[in-house]
Amino acid sequence: MPAKKIIVVVGATGNQGTSVANTFLKLPAWHVRCLTRNPHSDAASALRTQGAQVIQGDLTDPASLTTAFQNAHAVFVNTDFWTTWYPAKAVLCAEGKSYEPASEMAFAVETLHGKNAVDAAAAVPSLERFVYSALPGTSKVSNGKYTRSKHFEAKGWVVEYISKQQPELWKKTPLIYVGAYTTNRLLTPRLDPTSSGRYAFVLPVKQETRIPIINVQQSIGQFVRALVEEEEPGVKLLAYDSYLTAAEIAEVWSRASGKEAVFVPIAPEAMHDKMGVTWEHLDSQAFINEYGYTGGVVGVVEPAQLKRKVATKSWEDQLKEMNWTEVLAA
Ligand SMILES: NC(=O)c1ccc[n+]([C@@H]2O[C@H](COP(=O)([O-])OP(=O)(O)OC[C@H]3O[C@@H](n4cnc5c(N)ncnc54)[C@H](OP(=O)(O)O)[C@@H]3O)[C@@H](O)[C@H]2O)c1
Repeated sequence: MPAKKIIVVVGATGNQGTSVANTFLKLPAWHVRCLTRNPHSDAASALRTQGAQVIQGDLTDPASLTTAFQNAHAVFVNTDFWTTWYPAKAVLCAEGKSYEPASEMAFAVETLHGKNAVDAAAAVPSLERFVYSALPGTSKVSNGKYTRSKHFEAKGWVVEYISKQQPELWKKTPLIYVGAYTTNRLLTPRLDPTSSGRYAFVLPVKQETRIPIINVQQSIGQFVRALVEEEEPGVKLLAYDSYLTAAEIAEVWSRASGKEAVFVPIAPEAMHDKMGVTWEHLDSQAFINEYGYTGGVVGVVEPAQLKRKVATKSWEDQLKEMNWTEVLAA
């Protein structure tokens, strides 16, 4: 039997990485190595029980990445913005300050994490694929109009860093643009207080704006497998289970739940001023409204264009399986 190939999963204890690790753990041809800051967490222990090699490492510590990536054939990297942003915002707000510097802080951390992972991967001779979980940089595409969603900006920065600073790694790099998680607040309507029992999706987009939706834990691993095993490097995949307009989101949810739901457009400014939604969250939605979810990214492919069809469950079918009495009571 040929020796197993090694895939290193960065962020393996999180939503995206767990899905990738679980997918590859089922494939006899692969040895799965998971990087975590805390090898003793429940999530790390669960991965170990399933057969993963769990090693301690930190995206702020380049030497730990060099060790983790040794002899790897594939590396999956997801960088997380929110681990920095939420605590930084909480501190700023507790001091009575604007939350906005939290975005700059989280941008600095996420881009450093991405750079460290890229530089470490670029030095691995055995590497065949480097899969990065990306989002488009909004300010460059919009000529400086949308600059405030740094969780998009940071991932766009990392993509540019690979292409410009690590051209050899770029030749081995497929990108996965992950759609909005099914758990995203965008996809949970609120009970419309002006009606008797009607639900409203209040969103800062036009009714024809399309949002890709993905059950990240069920589907990401399957898409990453396709990018690692079957696709050419250089593929930029928009990964989703369903790709629906704002109006369709309300229709699908209504059909599945049996409750009336409507789409209610709202200006981003009103969402910020009246509902307290931060610009970190809102600016990317305004960008999507004008440019699309992968606005400015050239050559994006969608799941149906993959060489082997990745069969994931539609959002509507996922919703139909839910216990609506419990969901609506919550
Ligand atoms: N929500 C959405 O709709 C959506 C859509 C597209 C993209 N995204 C992006 O997805 C990202 C979040 O991914 P997720 O949901 O998988 O996150 P998550 O479940 O919160 O997991 C975060 C992961 O990052 C790892 N991590 C954090 N800091 C680290 C460090 N310094 N060194 C090594 N590992 C570190 C954690 O590992 P340990 O704690 O074990 O070390 C954990 O595995 C965000 O950047 C977000 O912008 C979200």
